[in-house]
Amino acid sequence: MCQVKLIVSNWKMNLNVSDSKKLIKDLIKFSNNNSIEHVVCPQFALIPSVSRLIKESKITLGAQDCHHEKIGAYTGDTSVQILKELNCKYVILGHSERRDYHSETNELVKKKVFLAISEGLKPIICVGESIEDRKSNNYLNIIEKQLDVCVPNDYNNVVIAYEPIWSIGTGQVPTNKEILEMKKFTYNFLKSKKRIHKVNFLYGGSVNSMNFHEIMNDTKVDGALIGGSSLKIIEMNKILTFC
Ligand code: PGA
Repeated sequence: MCQVKLIVSNWKMNLNVSDSKKLIKDLIKFSNNNSIEHVVCPQFALIPSVSRLIKESKITLGAQDCHHEKIGAYTGDTSVQILKELNCKYVILGHSERRDYHSETNELVKKKVFLAISEGLKPIICVGESIEDRKSNNYLNIIEKQLDVCVPNDYNNVVIAYEPIWSIGTGQVPTNKEILEMKKFTYNFLKSKKRIHKVNFLYGGSVNSMNFHEIMNDTKVDGALIGGSSLKIIEMNKILTFC
């Protein structure tokens, strides 16, 4: 029996309406693998059309961010309420591109995580260190701080995506030993500090059809957060037929 994997497609700010429709229709054809839960996270404006198309399929819908308040005068932002109405079940929070380009702090990510949970959305909480922190051996401190602030106590079944910043979109992937170290560290920290006994630990950063199987088999992580490769049907076909 294969361990069920959570595969999260992070489309980022890519694809237009017609290309996204084509991709989702193709993805539906590969979405009958019972060993995989596939969550697709399009940019906000694509969510309504993708939501309609996946209705009868096994694909789950997610968003790439949400605002930390329920409603109000926040020009340009998107509320959890709308995401729920559009049938989103997951929301990616604390992605390093949000932290970098929108100055999102751990405290802000924490507010978003709490709101998402209280409104019934599942947060996919992203953590990851810079290359400088990796080289100076400071990476565990960075991850510990992110987990400590962003993850609520006693929140079992939490989804953590470990994405080293130096690995996102670069083709550089940590060794399986490094991923395993982070997995163990995360499990231990969340257990001892947050009383969380069930963690879904995803790896993200330059995952593709060539490295996916080895990472899954050797590290036994619970799944992957996939950016660039999630836009290519040939890549996703190979990934989604895992097991
Ligand atoms: P990548 O992006 O797979 O293109 O490296 C992953 C992510 O940023 O979620």
